[in-house]
Amino acid sequence: MSLFIDTANLEEIVEIAKWGVISGVTTNPKIISKEPGISFKERILEICDIVDGPISVELVNENKDDMIKEAEEYSSWHKNIVIKVPMSCMGLEVIKILEREKNIRTNVTVMMAANQAFLAALAGGTYLSLFIGRIGDMGYDGLQVIKDTKKMLIEQQLSSKIIVGSIRHLMDINKSILAGADIVTVPYKFFKQMASNPKSAETINEFNSIWRDMREKGLIKL
Ligand code: E4P
Repeated sequence: MSLFIDTANLEEIVEIAKWGVISGVTTNPKIISKEPGISFKERILEICDIVDGPISVELVNENKDDMIKEAEEYSSWHKNIVIKVPMSCMGLEVIKILEREKNIRTNVTVMMAANQAFLAALAGGTYLSLFIGRIGDMGYDGLQVIKDTKKMLIEQQLSSKIIVGSIRHLMDINKSILAGADIVTVPYKFFKQMASNPKSAETINEFNSIWRDMREKGLIKL
């Protein structure tokens, strides 16, 4: 089980990469739009320099030939680039061509249901992205979708990995892991929340002030 970071912001990626807890990065057109003025290619290459793992870059074309050309262009930029293909009937065809004919790894994205994920796995998708927050927006249970998808993959011996995205609450992360996610892609702010706990801060403060006090009184020598 591993964590990716869901951002294209370099400062955020650099900070969390230093912790040693992320092994990949996911981007999408909306995430990229939060970084106005950048060169898209340069930014993706900068991300590849920081994190040595799968870096997802999403297709924006909507017809097959253009999607394949776009995927070939992005994947020529760096060996770690994974092509995010939005789930659709045409998307399935594109996944099959990229994975089986072009040797390009795909992350099948914007999926809301286990039946979509099952098709994406059969088509050869390396990663299957389920959007827990947006599934919840429709009134469905994202955790059940993760559990069902995991069960199908295991029972059918399909090797695709489940990425859970669209994280809206801290507990989405723990619950997704327990439901069977292989990877959770986490927005920056939740890493800070995961690492912090007021009781931990209070306990550190308690221990250190006792120590300082003992040292000042000369009761403990190094
Ligand atoms: C995952 O790969 C997506 O980038 C992301 O988690 C989308 O989530 P959203 O619902 O916050 O847009």
